Amino acid sequence: MDFNRRDLLLSSAGLAAALAAGTPASALDNSQQELPEPGAAPRPGVGSPDTAAYQALNNEKKIIVVNLRELEAEAKSILPPYSYAYISGGSGDEWTMRENETAFDRWVIEPQYLSGIRTPDLTTRALGSGLSLPVITAPMGGQGMAHALKELPNVKGTSRAGTVFVNSSVSNLSMEEIAEAAPGPKWFQIYFPANRDYARELLQRAKASGHTAIVVTVDGTTFSNRERTVRLGITPPNFGPGNGVRTPGIDPRVAAELKVDLNWDDVAFCQKEAGLPVVIKGILTPAMAAEAVRRGCAGVWVSNHGGRAMDNTAAAITVLPRIAEAVAGKALIIMDGGVRRGQDIFRALALGADVTAIGRPVLYGMALGGAQGVEAVYARLASELQMVMQLAGTASIQAITRSCVAQAER
Ligand code: FNR
Repeated sequence: MDFNRRDLLLSSAGLAAALAAGTPASALDNSQQELPEPGAAPRPGVGSPDTAAYQALNNEKKIIVVNLRELEAEAKSILPPYSYAYISGGSGDEWTMRENETAFDRWVIEPQYLSGIRTPDLTTRALGSGLSLPVITAPMGGQGMAHALKELPNVKGTSRAGTVFVNSSVSNLSMEEIAEAAPGPKWFQIYFPANRDYARELLQRAKASGHTAIVVTVDGTTFSNRERTVRLGITPPNFGPGNGVRTPGIDPRVAAELKVDLNWDDVAFCQKEAGLPVVIKGILTPAMAAEAVRRGCAGVWVSNHGGRAMDNTAAAITVLPRIAEAVAGKALIIMDGGVRRGQDIFRALALGADVTAIGRPVLYGMALGGAQGVEAVYARLASELQMVMQLAGTASIQAITRSCVAQAER
């Protein structure tokens, strides 16, 4: 679960709602672990939300991105400690988080020199949206952690980069504010709430505000142990729920409660109520992918939540080939987790993805340079992908196929 139950529990409304709804004690225990010790003296960034530090996160400037991995250390030097721990961390022993990046290197690219290609075409399409490159911005809740303007620089930078912004239902601004801020394509990601009327409201608002697809995240139905934030013992800032309840008669506190017993009927509910293509995010097995296709889902998002949901699940790139086989071209395949290089995008596409998504690097880019930082992240990925495609002899995205990669020999 991401910036949802645990973080919402830390707001008084969320806590009250959780108690009223009988939230498992384990979740409450865990949230309490994040509170500072009683009587501890607040120090900047430690033991207090340090709101001034969050207000100071207001960069809007050109940044130089040499490679995406280096952004983490640069962002760490300006982010408040809780923000850095929250964004950078994974769950449990963080094995899956590390594996997301290292598993790419079990595949090597087969170069095809002398191909006569001058400028490869990076453009593609996904669920009706035109993309300047096969990368989209993954949904991430609580972007006030990375910038004083919350989600705005990210949606603007993503739009200027010419690709899709996936709006998280646990954003700090409302989906309407985010949608209005930039003209680019947007999809809406939903953590399905326990209250169906509120779920309907979210889906209808998403459609009305111009989102053209719904992404249902299925790997966040229970609490995940992100130990970096727990260990810090800092109260996270409360930026407020961006998508608070608007339907009269629904208690606003229900917004904090998510549906734990999520099932395929809830997916059908999203399909019916939104009347938009539905993508399932969090698929890691061919069987679930096949079921999503059978149930008419438009997309399968192969993801372990950047290693933030259940630890010791496979890297997305590891399971991607078998999932692509199961989907057999009947749905769009999005893949994320550890995508940091043009080479990673290329390998994911060769192994069956239609599109990749990036998470943490865009938040680091936004923290360092606002919308221009996000644009710079995309510009770097585009130039690396262009280089790889040229040297691999692939003139278009469609030309990137399974024969473009091979298993690395040990
Ligand atoms: C996420 N992710 C996420 N996923 C989702 O479906 N809804 C959400 O609200 C969030 N929130 C969120 C916050 C932060 C700070 C991070 C880093 C991630 C997961 C995200 O969509 C994506 O799956 C991963 O981030 C991809 O991995 P990389 O690129 O970060 O390695």
